[in-house]
Amino acid sequence: MTTSKGDISKMSFGRTGDGTPVDIYTLRNANGVEARITNYGGILASWKVPDRQGKLGDVVLGCDTLEGYLKGTAYFGCIVGRCANRIAKGRFTLNGVARQLAVNNGPNSLHGGLRGFDKVVWQAAPSATPDGPALELSYLSKDGEEGYPGNLHVKALHTLTRDNGVRIEFTASTDQDTVVNLTNHSYFNLAGKGDVLGHSVQINGDQITPVDGTLIPTGELRPVEGTPFDFRRPALIGARIEDNDEQLRFGGGYDHNWVLGKPLNKLGVMARVAEPASGRVLEVLGTQPGVQFYTGNFLDGTIRGKGGWVYQRREGFCLEPQHFPDAVNHPNFPTTVLRAGGTYRQTIIFRFSTEK
Ligand code: GLA
Repeated sequence: MTTSKGDISKMSFGRTGDGTPVDIYTLRNANGVEARITNYGGILASWKVPDRQGKLGDVVLGCDTLEGYLKGTAYFGCIVGRCANRIAKGRFTLNGVARQLAVNNGPNSLHGGLRGFDKVVWQAAPSATPDGPALELSYLSKDGEEGYPGNLHVKALHTLTRDNGVRIEFTASTDQDTVVNLTNHSYFNLAGKGDVLGHSVQINGDQITPVDGTLIPTGELRPVEGTPFDFRRPALIGARIEDNDEQLRFGGGYDHNWVLGKPLNKLGVMARVAEPASGRVLEVLGTQPGVQFYTGNFLDGTIRGKGGWVYQRREGFCLEPQHFPDAVNHPNFPTTVLRAGGTYRQTIIFRFSTEK
């Protein structure tokens, strides 16, 4: 499908263990920027954007083949759901009914359970839109899947925009009250190599939700003022990451949710990252109340990625727009409950530019 706004094409990406065919779509805009998205897990598998000299480079971590993703990664580039991030002990009570989810991360449930939205094959519908080439992914998560109530119909419309963004518009509806928190888990490295400690980050949040030793929020909203979590002005990722700070120790670096200053459900700039050598700049926009900033602390050289790059600790970072972790168990956090008949609607935009 080609228009003056760019094009989208499809290739086979192989089959899952049970024989389900998987495709990978290449979206290209009029500036030559190219994003590849597979309908396995909705993974943004590669994204080539220009540096300040105009040279294209891939800025996301990932694998060359479907087999790489099937072996399991650290949630590279995928859609996370039904509920992104952690739920304490995998437990919550909704409408008086206690639910027990799979415990897959220490004592907690992480990223939707054993087979979350990152490990399923989505229906894909490519199209050419006025904003650029687009790929709509749909998935029906059946009542009871991974312990969650309600048949949840999810759509994730991905558009490669004319201003070099990937916009993801999520919608979901359910026939029973349930819990929903969707995000994209891309790991970025704006230099395309090495660690990310020299990237400069700004996050538009005055508070974080501090965690316990298992990375579950305590419920407190803690000001970032005077802490290594103050990114209200740009600071290098590496500048304070080794500080003697209990929160940094718990995360092995940054692995925390920032409480954003913007109004709830309004699209706003959450964070900006600049990499001095390449001149690449990433802006993260979203409608969600929080953003999880994770510095690849658990990457440990066991995953062989694209072009043979073996990903080491802190060679990628994530900025995941989302509701706060474990929100279902914290009445003071914005709710992640989606009522029967209601519609969940959230947008994420990752947008690239360059600076001198
Ligand atoms: C999220 C979590 C991290 C880690 C990664 C995946 O960002 O907050 O603790 O689990 O996903 O490795």
